Amino acid sequence: MKQQKFRFEPSHDERARQGYVGAIKGYTNMVVQTDLERTIEGKVLPLAKAATAKQTLTRKDIATLSSALPLYALWSNLTFYSQDMLFKTVGDTVKRTKKDQESIAQTLTSRANKKGSLSLDEHLKISPPISQIEIHRMPGGYVSETDPEDLTAGRLYSGTIEIYRNAKAMGDGSQAGSDAIGQFTAKTVKSYFPELAPRRILDLGCGTGEQTIAFKRAFPDAEVHGLDAAGPLLKFAHAWAESEGAPLHFKQANAQATGYEAGSFDLIVSHILFHETSRTVMPKVMKEAFRLLAPGGVFLNLDVPYQPEVTPLPRQITNHWQVINNGEPFWTGFAESKLPPILAKAGFESEQIFHNYEQFGAGQYLVFGGRK
Ligand SMILES: C[S@@+](CC[C@H](N)C(=O)[O-])C[C@H]1O[C@@H](n2cnc3c(N)ncnc32)[C@H](O)[C@@H]1O
Repeated sequence: MKQQKFRFEPSHDERARQGYVGAIKGYTNMVVQTDLERTIEGKVLPLAKAATAKQTLTRKDIATLSSALPLYALWSNLTFYSQDMLFKTVGDTVKRTKKDQESIAQTLTSRANKKGSLSLDEHLKISPPISQIEIHRMPGGYVSETDPEDLTAGRLYSGTIEIYRNAKAMGDGSQAGSDAIGQFTAKTVKSYFPELAPRRILDLGCGTGEQTIAFKRAFPDAEVHGLDAAGPLLKFAHAWAESEGAPLHFKQANAQATGYEAGSFDLIVSHILFHETSRTVMPKVMKEAFRLLAPGGVFLNLDVPYQPEVTPLPRQITNHWQVINNGEPFWTGFAESKLPPILAKAGFESEQIFHNYEQFGAGQYLVFGGRK
């Protein structure tokens, strides 16, 4: 019998609406936001400079004046409501195909000869904000499910992420299910550490697991694991990996205390995990990663490139709006954290720490980490 694929399959009309939302989001991010940032630069910065004796302004010095601009109201409305539209239109596909796709997932993950594994911990105490906030304002957030077979959280995340990424010029035009970001991270690992031949790899905060698969493809001899706190996302990840024929091992745990043995991984990666962790959690996760690495092992993370040293003040204002209004509680906290000292405190020697910006598609990502 032909094996059915676990897939995100919009109908013709749903695809058209999703394309429309992507275009609105792209226009909002690239045209309206650019206009707004130019207006802040041209009007607000001179006013703020005149009103303060400070040599160097900070985001906080221009926040109130910036938010009073009519263009700020237009841009923030467009950003807010296009986010709603994104989840609505992807949600239509998720709902329409729910029964079929969840049944395919069940078949794939209950086969005796399945390739990978999933270890869930129903007693895991999931701390805020993952347990309380709808991150990205995704309805239901990462951890809600109506029943054990409900894959809505993972399917919504997977169906929206590439539309969101492409509209922010942080993607390469890929569609739902792409592992392009993971391929990019794996390529970066190989270019930074050409001699590294990892036997065990861990993707921390792997979520829906598409990027984890890229590591099995890039390092076929390695045993590849993915860890996340959100059980519903991991159920999706397991079904997705089985559908792709990838032998991946997923575990539900807190990245601060994973339960794996010390020294048991040669490569630990993460994709857009750290901008979703608080300043308290971040150092603990880095310490745990250091503990898990074997000597010579590599910890390499890819995340958003919004650190103040590379982000003009007007862009810091539009970024911080995401914290207040768009379900991104730690976006600014992450951007404003000095990562190399946190890595050093976690145990990495300073000459083994890296912190770079790398080009991907039309945009850039921050790549940071260290070697043990
Ligand atoms: C933006 S998502 C990224 C998911 C995936 N890496 C990707 O690239 O699509 C961030 C993920 O980190 C997970 N996460 C955040 N804090 C965590 C923690 N302390 N322990 C484990 N997972 C965590 C969330 O549940 C979520 O799946």
